[in-house]
Amino acid sequence: MVDNDARAKLSVNNLSFDAPMRSGSTGPDIIDIRKLYAETGCFTYDPGFTSTASCQSKITFIDGDIGKLLYRGYPIDQLAEQSNYLEVCYLLLYGELPSAAQLADFTGRVTRHTMLHEQMTNFYRGFRRDAHPMAIMCGVVGAMSAFYHDSTDINDPIQREIASIRLIAKMPTMAAWAFKYSQGQPFIYPRNDLGYAANFLRMCFAVPAEEYEPHPVLAHAMDVIFTLHADHEQNASTSTVRLAGSSGANPFACIASGVACLWGPAHGGANEACLNMLRQIGSVDKIPEYIAKAKDKDDPFRLMGFGHRVYKNYDPRAKVMQQVAGQVLDVLGVENNPTLQVAKELERIALSDEYFIEKKLYPNVDFYSGIILDAMGFPTSMFTAIFALARTVGWIAQWKEMIEDPEQKIGRPRQLYIGASERSYIPVDERS
Ligand code: SDX
Repeated sequence: MVDNDARAKLSVNNLSFDAPMRSGSTGPDIIDIRKLYAETGCFTYDPGFTSTASCQSKITFIDGDIGKLLYRGYPIDQLAEQSNYLEVCYLLLYGELPSAAQLADFTGRVTRHTMLHEQMTNFYRGFRRDAHPMAIMCGVVGAMSAFYHDSTDINDPIQREIASIRLIAKMPTMAAWAFKYSQGQPFIYPRNDLGYAANFLRMCFAVPAEEYEPHPVLAHAMDVIFTLHADHEQNASTSTVRLAGSSGANPFACIASGVACLWGPAHGGANEACLNMLRQIGSVDKIPEYIAKAKDKDDPFRLMGFGHRVYKNYDPRAKVMQQVAGQVLDVLGVENNPTLQVAKELERIALSDEYFIEKKLYPNVDFYSGIILDAMGFPTSMFTAIFALARTVGWIAQWKEMIEDPEQKIGRPRQLYIGASERSYIPVDERS
């Protein structure tokens, strides 16, 4: 913690830049460089924003050195064990745990917004059957702007609230329908008598020919997976949503931009990539070969599900995810799942390898999630769509906080220009 009058001094081109410093309630202090360019004519340079705080926030805190993750101050393992996803949504959106009455009201509002505008079914039919569910989610989430005009004015807090509820409520329906469409099966409509996660499982796995009752252990596991993925500070997709929102874009367009960014294999696409990697390794005896590839600077191969920009210790979500994997595989009678055996042995070997120890590479949230989702019957192509479903509340909470922050303005980074100096145009017949 720094004193209120703490300053950081920087000497630039014989100019002295005197910057105020600030402490948060916890975590690293910041140096306020907003006047740096005006006073020195210089930019800072921080590709990937490894040393940059893009905003102030009260929502999520991560201490990567000790593997701590707090949602509004509450540790993720306590929330995963004692809370549920809709209660966590309320906490992330409004800052406090709800009373029983507040939770019942919030749950009721979400439940009554789970259906999509019926014309959106036509929108799905414009895609090829083999379209990746994330391609469909990018399109359908963005298309909400064309159906819900009465909740697109970001300056109206009532419309912001309705859009937030609609997005949280409809993401499971949109994701489940993307899955059904890829399977060539009819859409299953939400049911108001089911919990959030159970409703999603039923919309994914029920067919008109027979009823489907989600197994309570699987429904609870799904709910915990949603909670573990709900928010994660200023990650790439959340930063994308904030940047899109800073221009005044409507909430559905902003969340669609987050879906697009999350799709990348270095980010939310890692759960799909990780399970594909574990299957590619195939057996425990092949692990050393892949560990060597991951360590080879000339080999682009990375251990998917390992490493993190912020966590330089075990991702606390991965620990909970490993416990959930055991529960799900026990219920499904696949405790000898070969992929899980490879994952556990890969984790054991990697965590004792000097390269991973020195670079502080640990399993992250994506390392075990794919094993659980695969055992539950989801194709790997649905993994990131499920991540996007769960992360929607985090994106919305961060988007709302950005809009309501008096210090916020349109995001517009600068650059270090290394291109050609000014030169005159040469007509094509005079060029060599
Ligand atoms: C998510 O930001 C978030 O919060 C994201 C997320 C969320 O909830 O929103 O937590 C979700 O995206 C989790 C991460 C999922 N991605 C993967 O599992 C893909 C595999 N991981 C890597 O691609 C990588 O670890 C990143 C992208 C996650 C982080 O990349 P960084 O910030 O560049 O990693 P780093 O700077 O800490 O790397 C340190 C070193 C580097 O080597 P050197 O340049 O120092 O020689 O470790 C190497 C990296 O090349 N390294 C790896 C590695 N991850 C980093 N080497 C082998 N295997 C890996 N997985």
